Amino acid sequence: MLRDIVISTLDLPSHVDEALTVQALAFGLGPDEIAVRRQIVLRHMAYPGARAYGATTADGVLVGFVYGMPNNRAHWWSTVVEPYLRAEGNAAWLDGSFVITELHVHPRYQNRGIGRALITTITDTATEPRSILSAIDTDSPARGLYHSLGYQDLARRVLFPSAPKPYAVMGAPLPLRR
Ligand SMILES: CC(C)(COP(=O)(O)OP(=O)(O)OC[C@H]1O[C@@H](n2cnc3c(N)ncnc32)[C@H](O)[C@@H]1OP(=O)(O)O)[C@@H](O)C(=O)NCCC(=O)NCCS
Repeated sequence: MLRDIVISTLDLPSHVDEALTVQALAFGLGPDEIAVRRQIVLRHMAYPGARAYGATTADGVLVGFVYGMPNNRAHWWSTVVEPYLRAEGNAAWLDGSFVITELHVHPRYQNRGIGRALITTITDTATEPRSILSAIDTDSPARGLYHSLGYQDLARRVLFPSAPKPYAVMGAPLPLRR
């Protein structure tokens, strides 16, 4: 399934433009959003424990990536989701959790197991006992993949400032279910 694709650690700051090209195609980002995301990714990668993995073709083309970091309650994402998790009695998930910040696979390379390989590879490096993430709150391939790996809904209809669509926050024990 993963024939001719290599999953390995990615120096994301050095490959941020290739990664954002993949994200733009996978997730639908315009040029203005890419410029904003670029600054955010570079800031995130300076946080303690932040790391990334990439999926690369034999020709050296990046076709997927994942990055994440140990959760820090002081980080913006955590402060936004905290009241929603608290309302559901799930705020303890914010401690001892590895956050998946982004996971994207080029549309031409989806459904070959690359996304699954990226997220299991990065979470296998985590020392935290669990993992959390947010995904658009709809029945998407992303949500299907996360459910199949053991992620459960911790909060639904979560609104991020400036994001038009509501998100679901999901959490799974580590290591992820195979
Ligand atoms: C989410 C994403 C990264 C998955 O990458 P991928 O390489 O296609 O995923 P995989 O091939 O490893 O796994 C696909 C899994 O998704 C699920 N899936 C696929 N299509 C699905 C669908 N239409 N509905 C529900 N689940 C689906 C299945 O669980 C499948 O698992 P399987 O291996 O048992 O068949 C990719 O679809 C993507 O980049 N999407 C757009 C960007 C995005 O939404 N990113 C996540 C932001 S939270």
